[in-house]
Amino acid sequence: MNKKRLAIFVSGTGSNALNIIDHFKDHLQIEVGFVLSNKKDSPVIEACAARNVSVHVFTNSEVADGSLLLDVCLREKIDYIVLAGYLRLIPLDFIHVYNEKIFNIHPSLLPKFGGHGMYGDRVHQAVLEANEGCSGISIHLVNEHFDEGRILAQFSCLVKDGDTISDLKKRIQKLEHAYFPVVIEKTITLENND
Ligand code: GRF
Repeated sequence: MNKKRLAIFVSGTGSNALNIIDHFKDHLQIEVGFVLSNKKDSPVIEACAARNVSVHVFTNSEVADGSLLLDVCLREKIDYIVLAGYLRLIPLDFIHVYNEKIFNIHPSLLPKFGGHGMYGDRVHQAVLEANEGCSGISIHLVNEHFDEGRILAQFSCLVKDGDTISDLKKRIQKLEHAYFPVVIEKTITLENND
């Protein structure tokens, strides 16, 4: 079979994007086609260059245009999109074309601590303020509602007494790096190997 091609969208430092790129390097069935960043100074740009992965840098008004995003992804023969810390709204026409083909990762156990405005440190802060005994990650497909698409997998970790946002963030990041690429890989291979 032709390799399935991923585009990874990032807004932040891109540690998940790089981890996914490294996971699929030399993979027989899946490859990363390109990374899209809406931040022109993201460290992910240089790190991708070092790995020979191309990066498209788009402005916020460009990424709001579904037809522009679609053009790039269709031209590059992209089969699946991975949102790895991507903070812009995905246009509806784009979601409809890539229906059930867009993965997202959220740093809490959805439906808890998800929804509009819940991203980054705000999520961890809310978890700590609610005195939760555990938190974790949710890997899900994207639909037209923030953080409400079908959940593919969740992994949990303890919230310990005295945890700071940064302690919890580190524990969550370990889960993200361990499981996000694997869930993407299993989902795509199961979908395409029958
Ligand atoms: C991760 O915590 C992810 O769960 C969230 O955004 C963060 C991205 O981090 N959606 P990085 O840019 O991959 O380091």
